[in-house]
Amino acid sequence: ALAALTPKKLAGTRILVTAGPTQEEIDPVRFVSNHSSGKMGYAIARQARLRGAQVTLVTGPCAIAPPYGVEVVRVQSAAAMREAVLARLDQIDVVVKAAAVADYRPKVRAGQKVKKGAEEIVIELEKNPDILGELGRLKGKQVLVGFAAETDDLVANAKAKLTRKNLDLIVANDVSQEGAGFNVDTNIAKLLFADGRLEDVPLTGKQELAGIILDRIEQLRKAG
Ligand code: CTP
Ligand code: CA
Repeated sequence: ALAALTPKKLAGTRILVTAGPTQEEIDPVRFVSNHSSGKMGYAIARQARLRGAQVTLVTGPCAIAPPYGVEVVRVQSAAAMREAVLARLDQIDVVVKAAAVADYRPKVRAGQKVKKGAEEIVIELEKNPDILGELGRLKGKQVLVGFAAETDDLVANAKAKLTRKNLDLIVANDVSQEGAGFNVDTNIAKLLFADGRLEDVPLTGKQELAGIILDRIEQLRKAG
């Protein structure tokens, strides 16, 4: 019933959503990762599909089920997510990067399980590619939407990312606020647009926030 009632405003639009964490392996049994349930990204994929979009969901490991009717591409590492996204970019109109990409990965991945021995060990990390930054440089007619999870200086940090990554819209969450963090069904967001507009979205469900983000994307597509 819900699907039938949602206007198909994004019919014909091809949207790629990334969601969830990435995992960067230390050895065959361990990894470095981030907190991320995937709920926000999966909500965007679901709401985009309900609005008639053709949706590809590139997802890191998540415990929740992907929404019905979307193409699901499962990846583990940031490097694999980057490849999956770049390979599809020329057939995509909108990219929404809700994934919590690990900023660093272990410099070496041990082929065998690292055995417990020394009292202290050091794991050296090296920087992962910034997928969204790369998309910003490659951007043609696509609408690019990023997320910023911050604990302080929310607007200033989000604005800097909007500019640095050449985005059309960034969704900024203060994850230190109750009701906005990880693994909850709600979010509190500020939407910052490339033209300088700032829109406050008070505490709301992630599905509803996803709907608001998609409405703004639709407006950006019409304007652009
Ligand atoms: N992102 C990405 N690739 C990375 C890191 C981040 O595509 N290697 C994307 C995220 O999916 C998100 C946006 O960039 O949409 C902002 O991520 P965030 O972690 O907030 O910003 P960073 O640029 O990584 O900066 P920092 O973590 O230092 O705040
Ligand atoms: Ca980061």
